[in-house]
Amino acid sequence: MSEKKYTGIGFRKDFAEELIDSEVLKPSFIELAPENWIGMGGYWKKQLDKAAEKYPVTCHGLSLSIGSPDALDVPFVKQVKKFLDQYKVKVYSEHLSYSKCDNAHLYDLLPIPFRMDAVKHIVARIKQVQDILEQPLVLENVSYYTPVAAEMTEHEFISAIVNESGCNMLLDVNNVYVNAFNHKYDAKNFLSKLPLNKVAYIHMAGHEQVSDTLIIDTHGQAVIDPVFELFEHAIGLVKPVPVLLERDFNIPELEELQGELSRMDSIISKIWKTEHAAA
Ligand SMILES: [Fe+2]
Repeated sequence: MSEKKYTGIGFRKDFAEELIDSEVLKPSFIELAPENWIGMGGYWKKQLDKAAEKYPVTCHGLSLSIGSPDALDVPFVKQVKKFLDQYKVKVYSEHLSYSKCDNAHLYDLLPIPFRMDAVKHIVARIKQVQDILEQPLVLENVSYYTPVAAEMTEHEFISAIVNESGCNMLLDVNNVYVNAFNHKYDAKNFLSKLPLNKVAYIHMAGHEQVSDTLIIDTHGQAVIDPVFELFEHAIGLVKPVPVLLERDFNIPELEELQGELSRMDSIISKIWKTEHAAA
């Protein structure tokens, strides 16, 4: 059985103090959005520094907007680079989507058209980001509700971007489940077509089924059994990497969050045996 722990949790102001002192919640790392902490001073900066002394930090950004048609926000990427260096962050992930256009920040993550011209545009932007960061960007398969002007499939689109840019992949297992349900495809078959050798980070999360045909990716509920089952299948296909439990709303008691981390830990210890743990 592997002794190494791989599971982490988001560092949130809602339970920052408890996380620093807690005997209950025992993640092996914390994830945070650099946008929420860059330039922070005073009490919260001290809390962040305390947490970063106790736990390794990964970053999951919100506003890089890698798919945007606008020019890349270079000063922002340079701020992120400084932050990553300061907290020795090895994984900086973002969404394979866009969240701003013509300077209007949109409140949701928009899908990028699955097209070759979009691939070329995004690959150039990823390379620009990686040059500044001096580390690979890690891009997440997002949940989407309407494919926009698709000329290729989602897995072809993701593979082209990953292979041509040299970036790594954040595999969000819940997003695979949600998209497979909403767009009526087979999740395991979809997984098998992704560039799984480039997976550097994994997300797990809960969602809300709002009708017989629609699931919304809310990060506000407990992870359901079929997503744990898909997780067990998925981690059998990738090398050991950090696994993050996303919980953004309806934050439960810490015992409940730890219960979900422990359930992932026990699945991981079955699948990622010590002898081939590469991480
Ligand atoms: Fe995610």
